[in-house]
Amino acid sequence: MEIIHVSAECYPVAKAGGLGDVVGALPKYQVKAGHVAKVVMPMYRTKFLYENDWVVDFKGQTNLGNWFFDYTVIKEPTNKLGYDLYLIDINGLLDRQKIYGYDDDAERFTAFQIAFVNWLASWEHRPDVVHCHDYHTGLIPFMMQYCYDYNTLRSVPTVITIHNAQYQGWMGWDKSRYIPRWDLWKRGMLDWNETINPLASGIKCAAKVTTVSWSYMDELRSNSNGLEKLFEYERGKCVGILNGIDNEVWNPATDKYLEHHFTVKTVAAGKEKNKQILCERFGLDPAKPLFIFIGRLVGEKAADILPHAIRMGIEQTQGQASFLVLGSGETSVEWEFQQMAEPYKGVFNVVIGYDETLSHVMYAGADFLLMPSRVEPCGLNQMYAMRYGTVPMVRSTGGLQDTVVDMGDPDGFGIRFDQATANDVTYSISRAVSVYQDKTHFNWMRQHMMQIDHSWESTVDEYTNVYKSLR
Ligand code: ADP
Ligand code: GLC
Repeated sequence: MEIIHVSAECYPVAKAGGLGDVVGALPKYQVKAGHVAKVVMPMYRTKFLYENDWVVDFKGQTNLGNWFFDYTVIKEPTNKLGYDLYLIDINGLLDRQKIYGYDDDAERFTAFQIAFVNWLASWEHRPDVVHCHDYHTGLIPFMMQYCYDYNTLRSVPTVITIHNAQYQGWMGWDKSRYIPRWDLWKRGMLDWNETINPLASGIKCAAKVTTVSWSYMDELRSNSNGLEKLFEYERGKCVGILNGIDNEVWNPATDKYLEHHFTVKTVAAGKEKNKQILCERFGLDPAKPLFIFIGRLVGEKAADILPHAIRMGIEQTQGQASFLVLGSGETSVEWEFQQMAEPYKGVFNVVIGYDETLSHVMYAGADFLLMPSRVEPCGLNQMYAMRYGTVPMVRSTGGLQDTVVDMGDPDGFGIRFDQATANDVTYSISRAVSVYQDKTHFNWMRQHMMQIDHSWESTVDEYTNVYKSLR
């Protein structure tokens, strides 16, 4: 089958979080399974753009309302990521350093989607499926069906995967002029509560909707930032498919970011060496259990409760545990963590920012990973942690609930708790410290979780089945 993924992120081209990891890996494994998979994304000014060569594949012209613009589709010619990669360049609009966070994001992503559809309509053949990801590409199914200029794309099936329903891309109806000439009777397919809602539109117009874990699919019907009724109504076309991880990138035996590699057999010694590096760099004691948090410092991840929970954890363990945080996000949380660095020197440290290399060393060198998320559609951090023998400590929600078994249950290897509160986190820290002291059991947990298969190889067929059901 020929599958076209359209996304705002794709690792290693541009990544802000797990969406990038998934879109960077799934197509590679679809190609390995015998399909033709392509990724189309905006051309941002990222390191990857400058470090690679590109050829021009197509030049086109279209418009966003009254603004006529030229766009260029460039292609990476060597297929180095394992699939065809296309970037759409819209001068002045997409070619910026960051992926998101500009005042004109609505214009940026709408223009990107229009350029994509415009380009696709120029193809001499039709792909088997267009696979959209999150709200940034949510208007594509509508445009392919109801825009007069793109009638020829009506028969191409579309799928949308929801990685995060918190962000929906709301736009006022004044912006409806951006969408190329469309069938006005279909207003309802764009609308949700009197605004244009690209995510809701994607859910209504795509032939199938997938969510990135089974539990998240159920949760969306009761908690989806206003779309609950829509998920209830459309439940017939929703399928939960748990994300995989790229076992080639995330492999402690070969990881290019690690100085010290390890396998299931050498996990204890291997992790010790990585921990040593981290502890030296951040002034922590390698003899104590090391707890880490990696991620966006936002409400969804319950990052706001972490500073207090960590302070309580340090007091409760009488300084017998170390904590290291890597992330960026809400200014108040960043500030609170930064304020803690000096008074808690020796047991706590923080890096505010985004650092791919450090994240790998942290998964490799830590003993425990904290994930108290309020909402977690899938979560990749806990799966990376497991692959690197780091015990995940998670709130029972979404994909966390689908992937982590509490150590109190048969074959359990992780720690689960119910509430995103400092009390639940500190209680879990006390459980972690006790199991850390039981070296035999702790080592069994590490070895056991490292062998759990979350590879894309075993997940890719689930997507193929979804595409086949559309024929
Ligand atoms: P989300 O996509 O909601 O942020 P996921 O758990 O799916 O959460 O994926 C997060 C991805 O982003 C992981 O690959 C994680 O290692 C990475 N990541 C998050 N924050 C940082 C950071 N500050 N530095 C490096 N990597 C990060
Ligand atoms: C989103 C979710 C995260 C998920 C990722 C990849 O960013 O917040 O839980 O793992 O997408 O699907």
